Amino acid sequence: MSDDSATGHGAPRTVVVKVGGSLVSDKRSDHDIDEAAVLDYARLVADLARSYPGRVVLVAGGGALGHGAVRRKEHDGRLALLPLTRATFAVKWVWTEAFRAVGLPAVPLQAMAMYAEGGDGPMFQTGVVSRLLGTGVLPVLSGDCVLTADGDLRILGSDHVPGILLDGSFGPVRVVALTDVPGIHTGRTGDSPVVPYLDAADPSRAYAYLWPTAAWDTSGAMRGKVDAFVAHAARGAECVIARGDRKAASLRHLMAPMADWPKDLPRTVISRSRPA
Ligand SMILES: Nc1ncnc2c1ncn2[C@@H]1O[C@H](COP(=O)(O)OP(=O)(O)O)[C@@H](O)[C@H]1O
Ligand SMILES: [Mg+2]
Repeated sequence: MSDDSATGHGAPRTVVVKVGGSLVSDKRSDHDIDEAAVLDYARLVADLARSYPGRVVLVAGGGALGHGAVRRKEHDGRLALLPLTRATFAVKWVWTEAFRAVGLPAVPLQAMAMYAEGGDGPMFQTGVVSRLLGTGVLPVLSGDCVLTADGDLRILGSDHVPGILLDGSFGPVRVVALTDVPGIHTGRTGDSPVVPYLDAADPSRAYAYLWPTAAWDTSGAMRGKVDAFVAHAARGAECVIARGDRKAASLRHLMAPMADWPKDLPRTVISRSRPA
């Protein structure tokens, strides 16, 4: 860990890598998941986890299966969203099998069993994550539905899941969303520059950059990501949005201080202080 970790831009202790569903599925379908793409990303995440034992957590984007389950609500009443637990477990299982194939022990964990909202505020149950990390097993998380203070279920999208790990025991935490864009574009096209840094205390200008969200997307695409990451940053996390590349040589820069990241790699950092 480097000395400037107090500023939030040194090497983190824990990196939460969220691989967007956009990289491994076609979200307009209800069932698609590209197992070959998952395997490529699993290989990259496994290399990172082996290089930094006990310091990497994966969050799998729900992709088509997650968004599909939300679009087709089959149950009624308070637990109407429950099929989302099954759908996102299927996603976690695909990832868990991919990690097995590349020789990294990994265990899927249901977000609903780790987080709930109570009358006195949020409840976090992260001891098992610590134990898994301490024994060299990669925790595989994903979006889910979670219990609200009223006893209903609500969706906890995968961009929000890293928030479960911000209870203090894993910090400093860096949250990295690998997605199909290199950050928050400042123009209406994919060749416009990205916002290099967004101050979590004043995120309003980012919202002006957002493109309209497709109706099939149930988590607000980039808007949902900005909402989630601004909240994580307010709780002390350093958040990064960058493009995923399944054929990348390595993801080891994800553990490096921001100053040591490849200079030619576009990304958007969202945090409480500007990287040097
Ligand atoms: N200003 C913007 N810059 C980049 N992407 C944007 C912007 N506004 C909206 N988006 C959309 O957000 C998408 C990324 O979010 P999303 O599809 O939810 O990815 P993921 O599957 O990784 O969660 C982009 O593909 C793009 O369509
Ligand atoms: Mg998304």
